[in-house]
Amino acid sequence: MSLDTMTAEWPHHYRAGSAGAPVLLMLHGTGGNEEEFARLADALDPDATVLAPRGRVTEGGMLRWFRRVSEGVFDVDDVVRRAGDLAWFLAWARAHYEFGERPVIAVGFSNGANIALATVLLHPEALDGVVAFSGMFPLTGREQTAGLSGTPVLLLNGRSDPMAPLASVTTLAAALTEAGALLDQRLRDGGHGVAAADVTAAQGWLAQRALVAG
Ligand code: MLT
Repeated sequence: MSLDTMTAEWPHHYRAGSAGAPVLLMLHGTGGNEEEFARLADALDPDATVLAPRGRVTEGGMLRWFRRVSEGVFDVDDVVRRAGDLAWFLAWARAHYEFGERPVIAVGFSNGANIALATVLLHPEALDGVVAFSGMFPLTGREQTAGLSGTPVLLLNGRSDPMAPLASVTTLAAALTEAGALLDQRLRDGGHGVAAADVTAAQGWLAQRALVAG
């Protein structure tokens, strides 16, 4: 299958929003799906255009975005490949759904946050911002070359998250800063998940950047 055919046939949820609001690219976590995770967009900005593709890797019947060797140990070659596929899908969607000048902000949870972060680090032109719930550094061992030139990134993590350990989050923050991202990092008590405080922080972050309608 060619990449063009693959992008056109990539299962995804789409809902057109108002022209003045951003496009939220909703990326579900392991075991989630596009319909379930698209609902979070309503809390972040009910006027947003919502584009929620489905992870194309399965692990024990669960949908994911890239292969891993074990919990927290990623197949980085596959991360790189799948980040390229997602950037390609976005280019297709921008044209197909006529996004025009609307900013496209990736909002990912866990494995979805990790593919969003890999995509912005490797293909910064594909995204205008990232909100990462419980993300970690997805590109261990790979040199960073792409420049993010001020792309805003919000990292939302729990201090005691065994799946996204603080050491990896620190590496991630350093890589983003070095690449030139406009980084905003919030740490809260607790572990893996999308806490109410995270949703509030994401709403505020989006509103502050005038990325939400009104
Ligand atoms: C990953 O595989 O991306 C992380 O370990 C989080 C998850 O379990 O999805």
